[in-house]
Amino acid sequence: MIRPDWAPPDIDLDTPSIARVYDYWVGGTHNLPVDRVIAERLESENPVLPMTLRSNRAFLRRAVRELSSLGVDQFLDIGAGIPTEGNVHEVALECNPSSRVVYVDIDPVAVSHGRAILADEPRATSIQGDFLRPGEILTNPEVRAMLDPDRPIALVLAAILHFVPDQDHPRKVLDQYLAHLAPGSFLVISHAGIMHRSDETGPPAPEATEQYKERVSDAIRWRDAAALRSLCSGLDIIEPGVTPVPLWRPCADDPPDEVGTDAVALALVARKP
Ligand SMILES: C[S@@+](CC[C@H](N)C(=O)[O-])C[C@H]1O[C@@H](n2cnc3c(N)ncnc32)[C@H](O)[C@@H]1O
Repeated sequence: MIRPDWAPPDIDLDTPSIARVYDYWVGGTHNLPVDRVIAERLESENPVLPMTLRSNRAFLRRAVRELSSLGVDQFLDIGAGIPTEGNVHEVALECNPSSRVVYVDIDPVAVSHGRAILADEPRATSIQGDFLRPGEILTNPEVRAMLDPDRPIALVLAAILHFVPDQDHPRKVLDQYLAHLAPGSFLVISHAGIMHRSDETGPPAPEATEQYKERVSDAIRWRDAAALRSLCSGLDIIEPGVTPVPLWRPCADDPPDEVGTDAVALALVARKP
């Protein structure tokens, strides 16, 4: 096939990429026929997935807008995927043209696309890094050049922490990031999980567990609202607390997805005191 002008030269056009599958689901244009075949197969097995990911991306836009309105102009987005379709830099720069954004992803294909997309954008960049190696990310020369650790930074962890099992100690890893962030910094999290209908802090309602099993792959680590609150202990979770993703400060411009309270992802924004 002819290489599209947006495809970096190091990208193999015949090998599907999960980052581009995701881009397809959120309505982006950085995907190829090989990716769309995979996307459609996965979608037929799990029809709620693309809607959940679009809903998650809409939450991310709302969270960035809210934080920009609070004066935050630095964003470190880890597990960013391909930065298209209303991603962090688009929203942050629209709100405040002097914002700065660093995207990090473990997937070299996502990073390669990201660098191509951001080639002409001096206020945003994309680097390869592993969330589980905070030291490497925080001392990366591009991160140090782009973000001032003496001022608040929003650490964005959208739809990534559910890939981190408990045995990798996500809270300890988060602590290493938080130690580096100035007071007044924020943490933005979206995560696979559902609200318990019977008792939000108690054991999952049976129907919720069944829905989850039907809808979400066993490969990811589901955490409920209580687990997410515990992950953020010591931080101030801002209103409206932990909610299903479409219900976190929904706004008229960005209407909540029809999955509503049945969403299989939870959202929160927390402030470092
Ligand atoms: C579901 S996508 C989320 C994309 C974007 N954050 C959003 O919410 O729209 C998850 C991304 O996390 C990345 N990822 C998974 N584990 C990671 C890790 N340990 N470090 C950095 N990125 C990781 C994957 O490569 C993928 O691009």
